[in-house]
Amino acid sequence: MNSEGRSGLDSLCQRATAAFERAFAAGPSFLVAAPGRVNLIGEHTDYNDGYVLPAAVDRHVVIAAAPRTDRQVRLHAVDFQGSSEFSLDDIRFDQRQRWSNYPRGVAWALQQAGYALTGCELCITGDVPIGAGLSSSAAIEVATAYTFQVMGELTLDGVKRALLCQKAENEFVGMRCGIMDQYIISLGKRGHALLIDCRSLEYRLVPVPAGCSLIICDTKKRRGLVDSEYNTRRRECEAGAKTLGLRALRDITPEEFQARQGVLDAVTRKRCRHVVTEDQRVLDAVQALEAGDLAQFGRLMNASHLSLRDDYEVSCPELNAMVEAAQAQRGVLGARMTGAGFGGCTVNLVLNEAAEGLQHGVARTYTKATGLVPEIYVCTAEEGVQRLA
Ligand code: GLA
Repeated sequence: MNSEGRSGLDSLCQRATAAFERAFAAGPSFLVAAPGRVNLIGEHTDYNDGYVLPAAVDRHVVIAAAPRTDRQVRLHAVDFQGSSEFSLDDIRFDQRQRWSNYPRGVAWALQQAGYALTGCELCITGDVPIGAGLSSSAAIEVATAYTFQVMGELTLDGVKRALLCQKAENEFVGMRCGIMDQYIISLGKRGHALLIDCRSLEYRLVPVPAGCSLIICDTKKRRGLVDSEYNTRRRECEAGAKTLGLRALRDITPEEFQARQGVLDAVTRKRCRHVVTEDQRVLDAVQALEAGDLAQFGRLMNASHLSLRDDYEVSCPELNAMVEAAQAQRGVLGARMTGAGFGGCTVNLVLNEAAEGLQHGVARTYTKATGLVPEIYVCTAEEGVQRLA
């Protein structure tokens, strides 16, 4: 972790501890931190049994926690200035404190899987921007699961933890997300991205190369429409796979797809073409990184963005403006939207010597094009969820 990241986490811990003391009139027993994530390449492939290449980043959700002797869970969210409470014997969706549905859903999913939970007091805070496509909600889920795990000394490996958090989001919150976010937040490794096979749920560590920086540019356009459009894209992919007689879109090569795509209607064909070519780009990108060919990795990032913009249609004018502003700068190897789309952030691979200049240049061009003031920062690849104290 760079020094800025460490002090960021330290101050989150202080904030969580102080807020815990105010809310619950005693100190917490321990703290847990779960990072946000950035996906380098492999977008909208996870729910098609495909490949993704995300890294955990140095922005976190922190939970300060203490057990109770009864079955009540009392929650306080510093950043929403809200509190919520429920019994582990009667977990319902909360229409008013909607943030609380992530911890509620996780408690529900853990109990459904047969884990014995104890009541507790939890104070949540973080610096993962909300609605920016860096997975603040998955970070809350994984942090909550890990908190219950520590408290109840539950035997739960990283993959199982990720699957139960995904179940919470799919079945309790109602967003049919894939496994990528919960997986990387659960299992991330410092200095590495993970190549995840979303069918076998195995991963391979891929070192983030020296000599270049990962820069996140937040458009400040908050995601709209994402839940309904996301679920629609997912249905379109499932329909396409069915028409092609496949278990999932992961089961066809770009060449075979090219030959057989005529059976699909125009929209389904575009959606499927994105997924099929994106899977191939992930594998090619990992090969390029491992061969030290950063220029090729960058070209694949650029191609991924075009495919998301034109075939999958999940980009937006602000994301396109940010990508174009970056691509026009010297030293930028590749730029693309990251996450579900419809707003949020881009991810950029930039030569170290160009990183500083890029931040000013991109911000100027982007603001001129959109009137929005972006937030741009160099990020580092971090550990997944951990207990801090
Ligand atoms: C969201 C979902 C992930 C993944 C991405 C798109 O972040 O939570 O499962 O589908 O969108 O790649």
